[in-house]
Amino acid sequence: MHRDIGAVCALYPMPTTIVGALVDGRPNFLAIAHVGILNNAPPQYLTVSLKKFRHTAKGIRQSGSFSIGLPGVSMAVAADYVGIVSGRSVDKSGVFDVFYGRLGNAPLIRECPVNMELRLHDVMDLPAHEVFVGELVASHVAEGCLHDGKVDLEKARPLLFDYSSGWYFSLGEPVAPCWRAGRDHPAYLAAKGVK
Ligand SMILES: Cc1cc2nc3c(=O)[nH]c(=O)nc-3n(C[C@H](O)[C@H](O)[C@H](O)COP(=O)(O)O)c2cc1C
Repeated sequence: MHRDIGAVCALYPMPTTIVGALVDGRPNFLAIAHVGILNNAPPQYLTVSLKKFRHTAKGIRQSGSFSIGLPGVSMAVAADYVGIVSGRSVDKSGVFDVFYGRLGNAPLIRECPVNMELRLHDVMDLPAHEVFVGELVASHVAEGCLHDGKVDLEKARPLLFDYSSGWYFSLGEPVAPCWRAGRDHPAYLAAKGVK
């Protein structure tokens, strides 16, 4: 038996991200859980969904750039901090050690195991949110979090966010290999003629 609990968004957990932009020339950061992948082949478009009038949104528009950082679990306090105070009243430029990549105006976070730089492509105006669509320009990964040139999640230990409990989580154990586990499904085996 399943109970209908109404139109409750139940897509969580989502990665906790820290989105950065230069606002009036100064780095500002906020926590964003509502992120998306729109086009996963070049050009790659990622989205960040900001409630209207977020201070950071002003900077994304001004500079035409933004960053998405993936904090590790050890960064829960700092990630939460930039998610509970606004750059409109508090200077958040010194919270992280900032560096710049190819765009030169998307502030990246040295403490984050993964940082992505995006060029603003489009803005979708929705009733409560503005969805910033960015073209992925480059990803910067801490040396210690790479394996064969790819992000190693067990080393990066990304911080996950659950809206319903209001808690941050970490990843659990690997479960099954993608694009391979399904080959053990009875329907797959039957189609392949495996008894
Ligand atoms: C875990 C977490 C996730 C959040 N996700 C979002 C989000 O997806 N969209 C949004 O507009 N605000 C989100 N917020 C709230 C903003 O981060 C917060 O309002 C921030 O202080 C805005 O900063 P700014 O005014 O300097 O831009 C989130 C906050 C936290 C703690």
